[in-house]
Amino acid sequence: MATLRSCSIAALSFVALAWGQGYTNESEVPYYGQSPPVYPTPEGTGGTDPAWQAAYFRAASIVSQMTLEEKVNVTRGHPGTCVGNSGNVTRLGIPALCFSDAPDGIRGQEFVSAFPAQIHVGATFDRDLMYRYGEALGAEFRGKGINVALLPVAGPLGRVARAGRNWEGFGADPYLSGMGMESVVHGAQDQGVIAQAKHWLLNEQEYRRNPGSAGESISSNVDDRTLHELYAFPFMDALHAGVASIMCSYQRTNNSYGCQNSKLLNGVLKTELGFQGFVTSDWAAQHAGVASANAGLDIVMPDGGYWGDNLTEAVTNGSVTDTRLNDMVTRIVAAYFHLNQDQGYPEVGVYPYNIQHEIIDVQANHASLIREIGSAGTVLVKNTNNTLPLRSPRFLNIFGYDAKLPDSPWTNPSRFGGGYEVNFGWSTLNGTMITGGGSGSSAPPYVVSPFQALQNRVVQDHGILRWDFDSVNPTVYANADACLVFINAYASESFDRTSLTDSFSDQLVHNVATNCSNTIVVVHSAGIRVVDSWIEHPNVTAVVFGLLPGQESGNSLVDVLYGDISPSGRLPFTIAKNESDYGNLLNSTIGSGPFPQDDFTEGLYIDYRHFDLYNITPRFEFGYGLSYTQFSYSNLSISLAANASCDEYLPTLSTPTPQGGHPALWETLYTVSITLTNTGPVAGHEVPQLYVSIPTAPVRQLRGFERVYLASNESATVSFPLTRRDLSVWDVVAQQWRLQHSSYPVVVGASSRDVRLSGNINVS
Ligand SMILES: *[C@@H]1O[C@H](CO)[C@@H](O)[C@H](O)[C@H]1NC(C)=O
Ligand SMILES: *[C@@H]1O[C@H](CO)[C@@H](O)[C@H](O)[C@H]1NC(C)=O
Ligand SMILES: *[C@@H]1O[C@H](CO)[C@@H](O)[C@H](O)[C@H]1NC(C)=O
Ligand SMILES: *[C@@H]1O[C@H](CO)[C@@H](O)[C@H](O)[C@H]1NC(C)=O
Ligand SMILES: *[C@@H]1O[C@H](CO)[C@@H](O)[C@H](O)[C@H]1NC(C)=O
Ligand SMILES: *[C@@H]1O[C@H](CO)[C@@H](O)[C@H](O)[C@H]1NC(C)=O
Ligand SMILES: *[C@@H]1O[C@H](CO)[C@@H](O)[C@H](O)[C@H]1NC(C)=O
Ligand SMILES: *[C@@H]1O[C@H](CO)[C@@H](O)[C@H](O)[C@H]1NC(C)=O
Ligand SMILES: *[C@@H]1O[C@H](CO)[C@@H](O)[C@H](O)[C@H]1NC(C)=O
Ligand SMILES: *[C@@H]1O[C@H](CO)[C@@H](O)[C@H](O)[C@H]1NC(C)=O
Ligand SMILES: *[C@@H]1O[C@H](CO)[C@@H](O)[C@H](O)[C@H]1NC(C)=O
Ligand SMILES: *[C@@H]1O[C@H](CO)[C@@H](O)[C@H](O)[C@H]1NC(C)=O
Repeated sequence: MATLRSCSIAALSFVALAWGQGYTNESEVPYYGQSPPVYPTPEGTGGTDPAWQAAYFRAASIVSQMTLEEKVNVTRGHPGTCVGNSGNVTRLGIPALCFSDAPDGIRGQEFVSAFPAQIHVGATFDRDLMYRYGEALGAEFRGKGINVALLPVAGPLGRVARAGRNWEGFGADPYLSGMGMESVVHGAQDQGVIAQAKHWLLNEQEYRRNPGSAGESISSNVDDRTLHELYAFPFMDALHAGVASIMCSYQRTNNSYGCQNSKLLNGVLKTELGFQGFVTSDWAAQHAGVASANAGLDIVMPDGGYWGDNLTEAVTNGSVTDTRLNDMVTRIVAAYFHLNQDQGYPEVGVYPYNIQHEIIDVQANHASLIREIGSAGTVLVKNTNNTLPLRSPRFLNIFGYDAKLPDSPWTNPSRFGGGYEVNFGWSTLNGTMITGGGSGSSAPPYVVSPFQALQNRVVQDHGILRWDFDSVNPTVYANADACLVFINAYASESFDRTSLTDSFSDQLVHNVATNCSNTIVVVHSAGIRVVDSWIEHPNVTAVVFGLLPGQESGNSLVDVLYGDISPSGRLPFTIAKNESDYGNLLNSTIGSGPFPQDDFTEGLYIDYRHFDLYNITPRFEFGYGLSYTQFSYSNLSISLAANASCDEYLPTLSTPTPQGGHPALWETLYTVSITLTNTGPVAGHEVPQLYVSIPTAPVRQLRGFERVYLASNESATVSFPLTRRDLSVWDVVAQQWRLQHSSYPVVVGASSRDVRLSGNINVS
């Protein structure tokens, strides 16, 4: 029985923040070589959750009646109409499971919605919207009879500024990402669909993510502490929320492929984090048969890969045990039962576009939620002299191809915008951009372009428009109230970006601003887009980051531009003044030779942690965004939760580790509260953010946020619960989360640098 220590609270004080430390001496950088072997795979049992246990009980009984061929058949992909199709065992009532992309809407199907991309949802900093997003997506996947939805995404987290898939995640912070993961898993699985969190783990770049003629894939080499505190952290939230499957990743870690890395699968995921669901390979990410089975992979996609008959043989000759194969199948069937998919789940209704088929319309009224998230994730970063909101202008100039629909966005019928490449230098999309490229791309039923929505509004006001979507030096009409310039920045799966700007768009903004004293720039970007070549131009009066808003793009933008909704989106990443400010975290690692290495020597210091460490002033910091009203912050107070235990280490568990990790990690130790008042003229949302300085960790890390709606002159108390995990570090020697007995400065502010209140927590 461990002794309980009391947790005391120091008097509130202003605290000077100490800067954290990175690796300054190369010899301190951990040696990377091979991934430690962790065998065998822990068998799934349902852990400590009675519902999971009941599902396992049923699954075990079914699996015990399967032949070896049937079991092997369930662990592999087959041809079918879905992105992935597992094997069926019809005589025992187990159907082929349908797996489908994408994280922001069902890919390649008709009568489905195109939701905002996850990066846009991250920018809302709103847990309720995150939940409703997962719920609506889950309802659509369910409606089409899709069993496994390949979402949500926490890897990549956003280590590399130019990485191609950062927009598929919630933003470059593990806490923000974790809140998104937890909410979306709850939302989707509450609809009965199996969520598949991806990509586990360290899939931080596209370049050389797969083996090829140049050699093996890149190896992401990260120290154990950083692995836990940054990259596994948001997955812990997905696991804690009950996620029933995980997708392993393409690249290697410590030179071992993601889908056969026993440390990551058997070790961290299935032992330390108690995962009870099944692990699916990313498509064609399997690179060995026996090795992947024994390392903890449970099902291979899209086809048999190295399994099929070879797995049958491997089980027959003892290279893979019966126990392991039974566990693989039981994990899959248990997930199916756990989500109650045997009880009235719709038949698979997924069809190829070129075959006439029945219409299954799953859109419901999701368009209104899409519009709401679209405006909530729109980030206003500049607004000189309150140029915005627009006040019923009678005459608008509209410039840039991002204002209009792309001419032929369906060159690849399975995804909007073309797919893995575009026709314009891979850096922009010639048409408005509502999502990024690759398997994360959605299939919108329609797209409301910014031009369409603006035109509707101007017509209502009996106004007029002049537009030019193509010219880099368009004619400016001097009588116009404003010039709206639309630009975008494209990114896609399968390649990383080569720039965070493009010269066409920068020239366009310059040229318009030269002749238009009220130039408003809207940026649709799949990630970071630097803006320093024109941000300080005196005629650029307002700048809006519209990110990737989904099918209601124009409507959600106009809601913000015209002030029907006061903007409250916050940047989920740091926008630097100069691309070089990202340092080694700008480009993906190219690596040389047949065994390229990507050492994450920066440790915990990515995105704003990097800018804070090196004292680099960004153009717009993480968490930044403007409003049409003002808020005051007051009365910071800190309370200690009743019965809180501040023991340095967690008590030993007498049960298996519940999925997600030790339950005490999720206990609230302290609650920080503030009073927030809308002191401005209009109603709106504010996003107060809590940052904690954990000793020996980066100077400030996000550990709380809340999106709060207040009428003018209204006040509210906003509380931020701090769990044990929020305050802990990963102790690599003890292999445990550790609560240091020390002082923890805390700040509450309007961004990661706009500190309004500070206090101190003393853990002793
Ligand atoms: C780096 O650390 C090693 C081992 O602690 C030490 O011998 C060496 O002097 C250090 N180098 C510098 C430049 O501080
Ligand atoms: C990778 O290697 C480092 C250094 O040996 C070790 O600390 C870490 O735990 C390893 N991680 C994995 C996933 O193998
Ligand atoms: C394997 O699964 C496929 C796809 O569901 C099915 O057509 C086939 O009959 C199954 N084979 C066996 C041996 O169960
Ligand atoms: C399931 O298996 C049966 C044979 O057992 C086969 O006829 C049927 O087509 C399979 N269904 C699917 C969806 O693969
Ligand atoms: C068995 O493995 C070999 C490679 O070792 C592969 O060529 C073959 O396709 C595999 N067979 C099946 C059924 O997966
Ligand atoms: C068992 O079968 C697997 C799959 O064909 C093969 O890779 C492995 O070498 C075999 N092992 C033995 C000991 O024969
Ligand atoms: C903003 O307002 C100030 C003070 O009224 C004025 O000097 C300045 O020219 C205005 N700037 C713009 C871009 O309208
Ligand atoms: C965009 O496409 C139009 C044709 O639809 C073309 O005229 C224009 O030059 C293109 N813009 C760029 C920047 O490629
Ligand atoms: C911008 O204004 C300058 C000078 O006032 C003029 O020479 C130029 O043609 C204008 N550009 C456009 C595209 O109207
Ligand atoms: C990033 O890549 C570009 C070329 O793609 C290169 O010019 C630049 O030097 C690289 N920057 C860094 C910091 O590696
Ligand atoms: C701003 O716009 C006005 C009006 O077109 C123009 O006269 C002025 O030169 C522009 N300012 C700059 C710095 O380009
Ligand atoms: C950005 O940084 C690079 C490298 O330090 C420098 O050459 C360049 O002038 C900088 N650009 C701007 C706009 O400051």
